Amino acid sequence: GHIVCVVGARPNFMKIAPIMRCFRGEDSRLSASLVHTGQHYDAAMKQSFFDQLGIPEPDCDLGVGSGSHAVQTADIMKRFEPVLDQERPSAVLVVGDVNSTIACSLVAVKKGLPVIHVEAGLRSGDRTMPEEINRILTDQLSELLFTTERDAAANLAREGVAPERVHFVGNVMIDTLLYNLDKAVPAAETLGGVMSGGEAPDRYGLLTLHRPANVDDPDTLRRLLETLSVISRDLPLIFPIHPRTRDRIEAAGLQGLIEQSAIYTQPPMGYLEMLGLMRDATAVFTDSGGIQEETTALGVPCVTLRESTERPITATEGTNTIVGSDSQRILDTYSELSRTGGKRGRVPEYWDGKAAPRIYNHIVAWLGG
Ligand code: UD1
Repeated sequence: GHIVCVVGARPNFMKIAPIMRCFRGEDSRLSASLVHTGQHYDAAMKQSFFDQLGIPEPDCDLGVGSGSHAVQTADIMKRFEPVLDQERPSAVLVVGDVNSTIACSLVAVKKGLPVIHVEAGLRSGDRTMPEEINRILTDQLSELLFTTERDAAANLAREGVAPERVHFVGNVMIDTLLYNLDKAVPAAETLGGVMSGGEAPDRYGLLTLHRPANVDDPDTLRRLLETLSVISRDLPLIFPIHPRTRDRIEAAGLQGLIEQSAIYTQPPMGYLEMLGLMRDATAVFTDSGGIQEETTALGVPCVTLRESTERPITATEGTNTIVGSDSQRILDTYSELSRTGGKRGRVPEYWDGKAAPRIYNHIVAWLGG
Protein backbone atom coordinates (compact mmCIF):
# COMPACT_ATOMS: atom_id res chain seq x y z
CA GLY A 1 0.00 0.00 0.00
CA HIS A 2 1.01 3.58 -0.60
CA ILE A 3 0.09 6.23 1.99
CA VAL A 4 0.16 9.99 1.52
CA CYS A 5 0.94 11.58 4.90
CA VAL A 6 0.02 15.21 5.52
CA VAL A 7 1.50 17.85 7.83
CA GLY A 8 0.83 21.57 7.98
CA ALA A 9 1.49 23.22 11.31
CA ARG A 10 4.07 23.01 14.07
CA PRO A 11 2.23 20.54 16.34
CA ASN A 12 1.87 18.15 13.38
CA PHE A 13 5.61 17.79 12.97
CA MET A 14 6.29 15.96 16.25
CA LYS A 15 3.37 13.64 15.46
CA ILE A 16 4.49 12.66 11.96
CA ALA A 17 8.17 12.03 12.84
CA PRO A 18 7.73 8.58 14.43
CA ILE A 19 5.13 7.60 11.82
CA MET A 20 7.48 8.36 8.91
CA ARG A 21 10.29 6.52 10.69
CA CYS A 22 8.06 3.47 10.93
CA PHE A 23 6.54 3.66 7.44
CA ARG A 24 9.97 4.11 5.89
CA GLY A 25 11.72 1.60 8.12
CA GLU A 26 13.92 -1.09 6.59
CA ASP A 27 11.34 -3.88 6.64
CA SER A 28 8.31 -1.67 6.09
CA ARG A 29 5.57 -3.10 3.91
CA LEU A 30 4.21 0.36 3.14
CA SER A 31 5.46 3.15 0.96
CA ALA A 32 4.81 6.65 2.20
CA SER A 33 5.16 10.13 0.81
CA LEU A 34 5.01 13.31 2.85
CA VAL A 35 3.08 16.43 1.87
CA HIS A 36 3.59 19.71 3.73
CA THR A 37 0.77 22.17 3.11
CA GLY A 38 2.91 25.18 4.00
CA GLN A 39 0.49 26.41 6.70
CA HIS A 40 3.56 27.03 8.87
CA TYR A 41 6.55 28.22 6.88
CA ASP A 42 8.89 30.32 9.07
CA ALA A 43 12.20 28.56 9.73
CA ALA A 44 11.49 28.68 13.46
CA MET A 45 7.98 27.24 12.99
CA LYS A 46 8.90 24.56 10.43
CA GLN A 47 12.44 23.82 9.25
CA SER A 48 14.06 23.61 12.68
CA PHE A 49 11.55 20.85 13.57
CA PHE A 50 12.26 18.90 10.39
CA ASP A 51 15.99 19.13 11.13
CA GLN A 52 15.90 18.32 14.84
CA LEU A 53 13.35 15.51 14.52
CA GLY A 54 14.89 13.96 11.42
CA ILE A 55 11.67 14.29 9.42
CA PRO A 56 12.37 13.61 5.73
CA GLU A 57 12.04 16.65 3.48
CA PRO A 58 8.47 16.75 2.15
CA ASP A 59 8.02 15.19 -1.28
CA CYS A 60 5.72 18.08 -1.95
CA ASP A 61 5.20 21.53 -0.38
CA LEU A 62 1.90 23.17 -1.25
CA GLY A 63 3.18 26.55 -0.05
CA VAL A 64 -0.20 27.90 1.07
CA GLY A 65 0.98 30.22 3.86
CA SER A 66 -1.31 32.23 6.14
CA GLY A 67 -4.80 33.56 5.52
CA SER A 68 -8.30 33.61 6.94
CA HIS A 69 -9.66 30.17 7.78
CA ALA A 70 -11.69 30.04 4.57
CA VAL A 71 -8.83 31.20 2.35
CA GLN A 72 -6.28 28.92 3.97
CA THR A 73 -8.56 25.87 3.92
CA ALA A 74 -9.64 26.47 0.33
CA ASP A 75 -6.06 27.00 -0.88
CA ILE A 76 -4.93 23.77 0.74
CA MET A 77 -7.83 21.87 -0.86
CA LYS A 78 -7.18 23.23 -4.35
CA ARG A 79 -3.49 22.49 -4.21
CA PHE A 80 -3.83 19.05 -2.58
CA GLU A 81 -6.21 17.56 -5.13
CA PRO A 82 -3.69 17.27 -8.02
CA VAL A 83 -1.20 15.63 -5.64
CA LEU A 84 -3.67 12.79 -5.05
CA ASP A 85 -4.34 12.47 -8.80
CA GLN A 86 -0.65 11.99 -9.29
CA GLU A 87 0.16 9.77 -6.30
CA ARG A 88 -2.96 7.55 -6.37
CA PRO A 89 -2.42 6.35 -2.78
CA SER A 90 -4.30 3.59 -0.96
CA ALA A 91 -5.08 6.07 1.83
CA VAL A 92 -4.35 9.56 3.17
CA LEU A 93 -3.06 9.89 6.74
CA VAL A 94 -3.66 13.10 8.68
CA VAL A 95 -2.66 14.02 12.24
CA GLY A 96 -4.05 16.41 14.85
CA ASP A 97 -6.64 19.11 14.39
CA VAL A 98 -5.30 22.02 12.35
CA ASN A 99 -6.76 23.50 9.19
CA SER A 100 -4.47 21.32 7.06
CA THR A 101 -5.97 18.22 8.73
CA ILE A 102 -9.57 18.91 7.76
CA ALA A 103 -8.75 20.40 4.35
CA CYS A 104 -6.82 17.34 3.15
CA SER A 105 -9.32 14.90 4.68
CA LEU A 106 -12.15 16.50 2.79
CA VAL A 107 -10.27 16.35 -0.51
CA ALA A 108 -9.33 12.70 -0.01
CA VAL A 109 -12.77 11.45 0.97
CA LYS A 110 -14.43 13.17 -2.00
CA LYS A 111 -12.00 11.38 -4.28
CA GLY A 112 -13.03 8.07 -2.75
CA LEU A 113 -9.81 7.67 -0.80
CA PRO A 114 -9.94 6.44 2.81
CA VAL A 115 -8.72 8.84 5.50
CA ILE A 116 -6.68 7.69 8.48
CA HIS A 117 -6.82 10.08 11.45
CA VAL A 118 -4.11 9.99 14.10
CA GLU A 119 -5.23 11.65 17.38
CA ALA A 120 -8.94 11.05 16.83
CA GLY A 121 -11.79 11.51 19.26
CA LEU A 122 -10.47 14.38 21.39
CA ARG A 123 -13.21 16.86 22.30
CA SER A 124 -13.08 20.06 24.34
CA GLY A 125 -16.83 20.56 24.01
CA ASP A 126 -16.09 24.15 22.95
CA ARG A 127 -17.19 24.79 19.39
CA THR A 128 -15.76 28.32 19.38
CA MET A 129 -12.32 26.67 19.08
CA PRO A 130 -11.44 26.28 15.40
CA GLU A 131 -9.64 23.05 16.25
CA GLU A 132 -12.84 21.54 17.73
CA ILE A 133 -14.61 21.95 14.38
CA ASN A 134 -11.61 20.42 12.61
CA ARG A 135 -11.63 17.46 15.02
CA ILE A 136 -15.35 16.70 14.72
CA LEU A 137 -15.38 16.89 10.93
CA THR A 138 -12.15 14.99 10.35
CA ASP A 139 -13.39 12.13 12.54
CA GLN A 140 -16.68 11.99 10.63
CA LEU A 141 -14.74 11.62 7.38
CA SER A 142 -12.24 9.03 8.60
CA GLU A 143 -12.20 5.33 7.91
CA LEU A 144 -9.53 4.43 10.48
CA LEU A 145 -9.32 6.40 13.72
CA PHE A 146 -6.40 6.13 16.16
CA THR A 147 -6.90 7.47 19.67
CA THR A 148 -4.49 8.62 22.39
CA GLU A 149 -6.72 8.00 25.42
CA ARG A 150 -9.50 5.49 26.09
CA ASP A 151 -12.25 8.08 26.67
CA ALA A 152 -11.93 9.29 23.09
CA ALA A 153 -13.83 6.18 21.93
CA ALA A 154 -16.91 7.29 23.88
CA ASN A 155 -16.80 10.73 22.22
CA LEU A 156 -16.71 9.04 18.83
CA ALA A 157 -19.49 6.57 19.68
CA ARG A 158 -21.70 9.51 20.73
CA GLU A 159 -21.18 11.01 17.28
CA GLY A 160 -22.08 7.78 15.53
CA VAL A 161 -18.63 6.61 14.49
CA ALA A 162 -18.61 2.81 14.16
CA PRO A 163 -16.53 1.35 17.02
CA GLU A 164 -14.71 -1.13 14.76
CA ARG A 165 -13.00 1.81 13.04
CA VAL A 166 -11.54 3.10 16.29
CA HIS A 167 -8.25 1.83 17.73
CA PHE A 168 -6.62 2.94 20.97
CA VAL A 169 -2.90 3.07 20.20
CA GLY A 170 -1.41 5.70 22.53
CA ASN A 171 0.25 8.98 21.80
CA VAL A 172 2.67 9.56 18.91
CA MET A 173 3.66 12.91 20.39
CA ILE A 174 5.05 11.00 23.36
CA ASP A 175 6.88 8.62 20.98
CA THR A 176 8.77 11.70 19.85
CA LEU A 177 9.31 12.99 23.37
CA LEU A 178 10.82 9.72 24.62
CA TYR A 179 12.89 9.26 21.48
CA ASN A 180 14.47 12.71 21.90
CA LEU A 181 14.63 13.15 25.67
CA ASP A 182 18.35 12.46 25.97
CA LYS A 183 19.03 14.99 23.20
CA ALA A 184 17.08 17.77 24.95
CA VAL A 185 19.05 21.00 25.31
CA PRO A 186 19.50 21.59 29.07
CA ALA A 187 17.42 24.56 30.22
CA ALA A 188 20.46 26.26 31.75
CA GLU A 189 21.98 26.51 28.26
CA THR A 190 18.88 28.10 26.78
CA LEU A 191 18.29 30.40 29.75
CA GLY A 192 21.85 31.64 30.21
CA GLY A 193 22.04 34.97 28.43
CA VAL A 194 18.25 35.34 28.28
CA MET A 195 17.51 36.09 31.90
CA SER A 196 19.04 38.91 33.89
CA GLY A 197 22.78 38.86 34.54
CA GLY A 198 23.45 36.14 31.98
CA GLU A 199 23.13 33.48 34.65
CA ALA A 200 20.42 30.84 34.51
CA PRO A 201 18.13 30.94 37.57
CA ASP A 202 17.63 27.67 39.42
CA ARG A 203 13.85 28.18 39.45
CA TYR A 204 11.87 29.36 36.44
CA GLY A 205 8.55 28.82 34.75
CA LEU A 206 7.82 28.31 31.05
CA LEU A 207 5.01 30.25 29.41
CA THR A 208 3.34 29.81 26.01
CA LEU A 209 0.20 31.51 24.69
CA HIS A 210 -1.29 31.48 21.21
CA ARG A 211 -4.98 30.48 21.34
CA PRO A 212 -7.19 33.05 19.62
CA ALA A 213 -9.46 33.08 22.72
CA ASN A 214 -6.51 34.32 24.81
CA VAL A 215 -4.54 36.55 22.47
CA ASP A 216 -6.95 38.04 19.92
CA ASP A 217 -8.91 40.19 22.40
CA PRO A 218 -6.61 42.97 23.74
CA ASP A 219 -8.36 43.14 27.13
CA THR A 220 -8.07 39.41 27.77
CA LEU A 221 -4.45 39.45 26.65
CA ARG A 222 -3.63 42.41 28.93
CA ARG A 223 -5.31 40.77 31.93
CA LEU A 224 -3.43 37.52 31.36
CA LEU A 225 -0.07 39.23 30.99
CA GLU A 226 -0.70 41.39 34.09
CA THR A 227 -1.46 38.26 36.12
CA LEU A 228 1.57 36.43 34.78
CA SER A 229 3.79 39.41 35.47
CA VAL A 230 2.74 39.22 39.14
CA ILE A 231 3.75 35.55 39.18
CA SER A 232 7.00 36.36 37.40
CA ARG A 233 8.18 38.43 40.37
CA ASP A 234 8.24 35.19 42.35
CA LEU A 235 9.06 32.78 39.52
CA PRO A 236 10.78 34.28 36.46
CA LEU A 237 9.06 33.18 33.27
CA ILE A 238 10.58 32.36 29.89
CA PHE A 239 8.11 33.06 27.10
CA PRO A 240 8.87 31.81 23.56
CA ILE A 241 6.41 33.79 21.45
CA HIS A 242 4.28 32.42 18.63
CA PRO A 243 4.13 34.84 15.65
CA ARG A 244 0.39 35.39 16.15
CA THR A 245 0.93 36.38 19.79
CA ARG A 246 3.88 38.64 19.00
CA ASP A 247 1.70 40.55 16.52
CA ARG A 248 -1.17 40.84 19.03
CA ILE A 249 1.11 42.07 21.83
CA GLU A 250 2.49 44.76 19.54
CA ALA A 251 -0.94 45.77 18.30
CA ALA A 252 -2.25 46.03 21.86
CA GLY A 253 0.83 48.00 23.00
CA LEU A 254 1.68 45.54 25.74
CA GLN A 255 5.47 45.34 25.29
CA GLY A 256 5.99 47.85 28.13
CA LEU A 257 4.07 45.68 30.56
CA ILE A 258 6.30 42.73 29.69
CA GLU A 259 9.51 44.75 29.90
CA GLN A 260 8.68 45.81 33.45
CA SER A 261 8.07 42.22 34.55
CA ALA A 262 10.31 39.18 34.88
CA ILE A 263 8.77 37.65 31.78
CA TYR A 264 11.54 37.07 29.25
CA THR A 265 10.33 36.82 25.67
CA GLN A 266 12.10 34.80 23.00
CA PRO A 267 11.41 33.89 19.38
CA PRO A 268 9.76 30.47 18.85
CA MET A 269 12.12 27.73 20.05
CA GLY A 270 13.23 24.47 18.49
CA TYR A 271 11.84 21.17 19.77
CA LEU A 272 14.95 20.15 21.70
CA GLU A 273 15.17 23.55 23.40
CA MET A 274 11.47 23.37 24.38
CA LEU A 275 11.90 19.82 25.66
CA GLY A 276 14.74 20.92 27.94
CA LEU A 277 12.79 23.96 29.14
CA MET A 278 9.73 21.84 29.96
CA ARG A 279 11.69 19.08 31.68
CA ASP A 280 13.59 21.41 34.01
CA ALA A 281 10.79 23.91 34.77
CA THR A 282 9.21 24.43 38.18
CA ALA A 283 5.89 24.86 36.38
CA VAL A 284 4.56 25.40 32.88
CA PHE A 285 1.81 27.92 32.03
CA THR A 286 0.23 27.29 28.64
CA ASP A 287 -2.82 27.25 26.40
CA SER A 288 -1.28 24.69 24.03
CA GLY A 289 -2.75 21.21 23.58
CA GLY A 290 0.50 19.35 23.04
CA ILE A 291 2.27 20.91 26.01
CA GLN A 292 -0.47 19.64 28.36
CA GLU A 293 0.47 16.14 27.19
CA GLU A 294 4.22 16.63 27.20
CA THR A 295 4.25 17.97 30.78
CA THR A 296 2.15 14.99 31.89
CA ALA A 297 4.66 12.64 30.26
CA LEU A 298 7.52 14.50 31.97
CA GLY A 299 5.78 14.75 35.36
CA VAL A 300 6.05 18.56 35.43
CA PRO A 301 3.12 20.62 36.82
CA CYS A 302 1.13 22.33 34.07
CA VAL A 303 -1.26 25.24 34.56
CA THR A 304 -3.58 25.39 31.56
CA LEU A 305 -4.84 28.89 30.76
CA ARG A 306 -8.04 27.68 29.12
CA GLU A 307 -11.56 26.92 30.32
CA SER A 308 -11.58 23.39 28.91
CA THR A 309 -9.31 20.72 27.57
CA GLU A 310 -9.78 18.15 24.81
CA ARG A 311 -7.13 16.03 26.60
CA PRO A 312 -8.86 15.29 29.93
CA ILE A 313 -6.51 12.47 30.85
CA THR A 314 -3.76 15.05 31.45
CA ALA A 315 -5.91 16.43 34.29
CA THR A 316 -7.44 13.19 35.65
CA GLU A 317 -4.20 11.19 35.60
CA GLY A 318 -1.46 13.67 34.75
CA THR A 319 0.01 16.86 36.16
CA ASN A 320 -2.37 19.28 34.46
CA THR A 321 -4.70 21.77 36.16
CA ILE A 322 -7.32 23.49 33.98
CA VAL A 323 -7.48 27.03 35.31
CA GLY A 324 -8.92 29.31 32.62
CA SER A 325 -8.03 32.97 32.23
CA ASP A 326 -9.49 34.42 35.45
CA SER A 327 -6.73 36.32 37.29
CA GLN A 328 -7.68 35.27 40.81
CA ARG A 329 -7.91 31.60 39.86
CA ILE A 330 -4.50 31.72 38.20
CA LEU A 331 -2.93 33.39 41.23
CA ASP A 332 -4.62 30.96 43.64
CA THR A 333 -3.42 28.00 41.59
CA TYR A 334 0.09 29.41 41.61
CA SER A 335 0.17 29.89 45.40
CA GLU A 336 -1.08 26.36 45.90
CA LEU A 337 1.57 25.12 43.50
CA SER A 338 4.32 27.03 45.33
CA ARG A 339 3.19 25.54 48.63
CA THR A 340 2.83 21.92 47.51
CA GLY A 341 5.33 21.68 44.65
CA GLY A 342 2.43 21.15 42.27
CA LYS A 343 0.27 18.32 41.11
CA ARG A 344 1.80 14.88 40.77
CA GLY A 345 0.48 12.39 38.29
CA ARG A 346 1.12 9.20 36.44
CA VAL A 347 1.90 8.62 32.79
CA PRO A 348 -1.23 7.46 30.94
CA GLU A 349 -1.62 4.01 29.43
CA TYR A 350 0.23 3.47 26.13
CA TRP A 351 2.12 6.75 26.33
CA ASP A 352 5.11 4.48 26.08
CA GLY A 353 6.90 5.46 22.90
CA LYS A 354 5.32 2.70 20.80
CA ALA A 355 2.21 4.33 19.37
CA ALA A 356 3.60 4.65 15.83
CA PRO A 357 4.47 0.92 15.50
CA ARG A 358 0.93 0.09 16.70
CA ILE A 359 -0.48 2.38 14.03
CA TYR A 360 1.74 0.78 11.40
CA ASN A 361 0.57 -2.72 12.37
CA HIS A 362 -3.11 -1.73 12.23
CA ILE A 363 -2.70 -0.16 8.81
CA VAL A 364 -0.84 -3.14 7.36
CA ALA A 365 -3.53 -5.51 8.67
CA TRP A 366 -6.31 -3.24 7.37
CA LEU A 367 -4.80 -2.94 3.89
CA GLY A 368 -4.22 -6.69 3.73
CA GLY A 369 -7.74 -7.54 4.87
C1 UD1 B 1 -2.25 26.76 14.14
C2 UD1 B 1 -3.37 25.79 14.49
C3 UD1 B 1 -3.38 25.55 16.00
C4 UD1 B 1 -2.04 25.15 16.52
C5 UD1 B 1 -1.02 26.19 16.11
C6 UD1 B 1 0.36 25.86 16.60
C7 UD1 B 1 -5.36 25.93 13.01
C8 UD1 B 1 -6.77 26.35 12.97
N1 UD1 B 1 -4.68 26.30 14.13
O1 UD1 B 1 -2.61 28.03 14.70
O2 UD1 B 1 -4.31 24.53 16.29
O3 UD1 B 1 -2.09 25.03 17.91
O4 UD1 B 1 -1.03 26.29 14.68
O5 UD1 B 1 1.29 26.79 16.22
O6 UD1 B 1 -4.88 25.28 12.12
N2 UD1 B 1 2.53 32.84 11.14
C9 UD1 B 1 3.82 33.19 10.87
N3 UD1 B 1 4.68 32.21 10.43
C10 UD1 B 1 4.30 30.93 10.25
C11 UD1 B 1 2.97 30.59 10.52
C12 UD1 B 1 2.10 31.54 10.97
O7 UD1 B 1 4.21 34.32 11.00
O8 UD1 B 1 5.15 30.10 9.87
C13 UD1 B 1 1.61 33.86 11.66
C14 UD1 B 1 0.81 34.57 10.59
O9 UD1 B 1 0.68 35.89 10.97
C15 UD1 B 1 -0.53 33.87 10.68
C16 UD1 B 1 -0.64 33.55 12.15
O10 UD1 B 1 0.69 33.26 12.55
O11 UD1 B 1 -1.57 34.66 10.20
C17 UD1 B 1 -1.53 32.39 12.44
O12 UD1 B 1 -1.13 31.22 11.71
P1 UD1 B 1 -2.20 30.07 11.36
O13 UD1 B 1 -1.56 28.97 10.64
O14 UD1 B 1 -3.40 30.69 10.77
O15 UD1 B 1 -2.70 29.55 12.77
P2 UD1 B 1 -1.92 29.36 14.18
O16 UD1 B 1 -2.37 30.44 15.09
O17 UD1 B 1 -0.47 29.16 13.98
